[in-house]
Amino acid sequence: MSVVLFGGEKGGTGKTTLATNMAAMLALAGKDVLLLDTDRQGTASFWATVREEADVEPKISCVQKFGKGLATQVRDLAGRYDEIVIDAGGRDSMELRYALGVSDRAYIPVQPFQFDIWTLQQMEELVEMAKGLNDELKAFVVLNRVSANPSVHEDQETRDFFNAEDFQYLSLVDAMLRDRIAFRKSARDGLSVVEWKQDNKATQEMNQLFEEVYGGR
Ligand SMILES: Nc1ncnc2c1ncn2[C@@H]1O[C@H](COP(=O)(O)OP(=O)(O)O)[C@@H](O)[C@H]1O
Ligand SMILES: [Mg+2]
Repeated sequence: MSVVLFGGEKGGTGKTTLATNMAAMLALAGKDVLLLDTDRQGTASFWATVREEADVEPKISCVQKFGKGLATQVRDLAGRYDEIVIDAGGRDSMELRYALGVSDRAYIPVQPFQFDIWTLQQMEELVEMAKGLNDELKAFVVLNRVSANPSVHEDQETRDFFNAEDFQYLSLVDAMLRDRIAFRKSARDGLSVVEWKQDNKATQEMNQLFEEVYGGR
């Protein structure tokens, strides 16, 4: 059982894309998964509603939770599911802080063109604080929307930039997602990109990420 958070202080970086895909892939692997939407914008819940209305199998339970009771609710829900996937909204929200306090792992998507060390330093501070309550917490950064043009080397540039900072609590995962329309189109149908089945490269990238997040567990 694990509680895995997709979060970060910036909006539009791919938190919901990662959370919904991981939830669907866990369900495909036979896990009883709960997708916990803590973002008041409700994008993950909307995805789950589209999925339900289209009668897509496997079914995925999704609930919205906000505010102070979040940590207690997650601890309570943890006993009832194999896996909990939390989608935490942008901004330095209360939900992000509570979720960091109860998660085993946190993944922070970052886009190369939005990549700024300042935001990551803030995340590192939040993680350090959360570790005071939850010393099991491990936090990772995932590159998302990396240029799909192989002649653009922004992934290596971003990795070098990241490594030069020597973060104490954040590490960069090897898997990354490139900027592909498949991630948007599959989401519109309430699917993961692996269920959408129309882009092998996108599927491969998401499988690699899944392997890093849940492999060997
Ligand atoms: N790798 C990607 N390639 C193309 N579009 C993407 C990718 N990741 C996310 N998007 C799109 O970018 C927008 C914001 O992503 P989303 O996951 O909703 O971000 P967040 O939850 O962090 O606000 C959505 O329209 C989503 O479909
Ligand atoms: Mg979102």
